[in-house]
Amino acid sequence: MKRNLTKSKEYFDIAKRLIPCQTQCLSKGPTQWINNVAPHYLKGGKGCRVWDVDGNEYIDYAMGLGPVVLGYGNESVDNAIKKQLEDGISFTLCHYLEVELAEKLVDILPCAEMVRYGKNGSDVTSAAIKVARSYTGRDKIIACGYHGWQDWYVASTERDRGIPKVMKDLVFTFRYNDIEGLASILDKNKGEISAVIMEPVTAIKPEKGFLEEVKKLTHEAGAILIYDEMFTGFRWSLGGAQEYFNVIPDLACFGKAMANGMPLSTLVGKEELMRELEKVFYSFTFGGEALSLAASIATIKEIEEKNVIEYIWDKGQMMIDDVKKLIEKNGVSSYLDIMGYPPKSIMVFKETGEYTTMEMKTFFQQECIKRGILFIGYHTLSLAHRDSDIKETLAVYDEVMGLFKNAVESGDLKDRLEGPVLTQIFKNVGDRSAGLAKR
Ligand SMILES: Cc1ncc(COP(=O)(O)O)c(C=O)c1O
Repeated sequence: MKRNLTKSKEYFDIAKRLIPCQTQCLSKGPTQWINNVAPHYLKGGKGCRVWDVDGNEYIDYAMGLGPVVLGYGNESVDNAIKKQLEDGISFTLCHYLEVELAEKLVDILPCAEMVRYGKNGSDVTSAAIKVARSYTGRDKIIACGYHGWQDWYVASTERDRGIPKVMKDLVFTFRYNDIEGLASILDKNKGEISAVIMEPVTAIKPEKGFLEEVKKLTHEAGAILIYDEMFTGFRWSLGGAQEYFNVIPDLACFGKAMANGMPLSTLVGKEELMRELEKVFYSFTFGGEALSLAASIATIKEIEEKNVIEYIWDKGQMMIDDVKKLIEKNGVSSYLDIMGYPPKSIMVFKETGEYTTMEMKTFFQQECIKRGILFIGYHTLSLAHRDSDIKETLAVYDEVMGLFKNAVESGDLKDRLEGPVLTQIFKNVGDRSAGLAKR
């Protein structure tokens, strides 16, 4: 259980001098992984396991924060990348794989009539908003969930430094399942809302008719419905949550799992709206980068041929059921619950009078990491998570839940922390989308 983290710490010390936040993605940085216990730097991965720069191994449940749906080092995807690499990466003209992948996406994503690409999720959520604003001639937006780092969205959060104040007047938010909340914003801003953008689902299930009603109200207001399927895409079903719930938006954004870890995202939707991209400006150097396109085609093929969606639902359900049993067995149901759907289940820590959710999560993470589980608070399973990996994880959870109960009930949980308490990146985002601390 005692792990050597020497190299991780050395790199981290250098990063403190050279890299603001010491990370490129806050969810991977020191505010989300307990200092002194979690490794700062990984070196590689295979299947559902990763190893850090000091050679310690872990079972991963975040899988690159969502993308690695087939597992690290998937042979088919890696071979597709290598084959394309022989021909090249980025070119002076468009690459034919842009077209081949577009044909596939139109085939499998219900709302897709046309396709554009991006690299990050934020590229395509921002493109979707631009399209909606251009099409409707309106500036205001309503959001529900998390949609990336761009100003149009982050203006709605408390982490709004560096954003012109005027942006704050253009974005409103509503809580998931709060149809009255949405109706009230639409009513107060009649004729001014260009789009409602939302994560179709996170941890909380949509109430009966909620998604249908959102679509109806949005259209009645003359606005565009955009689904942000960054997490649900290629997980809830091959066609995302829109296919799973059979509620089809006007535009949708996908990314993460579409290329098993290669940087690729896509905006898809109705032709009438997508043609707006011929008027707005959405253009950048790496949009047609060929390795990611090749990886995506191979990823989708693998998802289809290996019934990956069925597999992750099956294993995810097993995970939820067994974690629930462990929560009961260890008598921690007053402090801990598991929620969500099999493709992404979330461990929810419940505020006690004495401890905050983040204090409890920090303790739980600390003890899991020491035992080889890279615990971030949710499980995104992959094709590479086998029963034996899940069993190993559950044995660790069993032990950690015992320690956790003891720490909470004996009142010395904070004394047992070996590093600073984790902090929430956005205080209100999880709350808005699902009533949970999300990332
Ligand atoms: C639902 C959702 N939308 C958008 C984004 C932003 O994607 P990216 O970080 O690739 O820009 C994320 C990232 O976590 C996400 O979960």
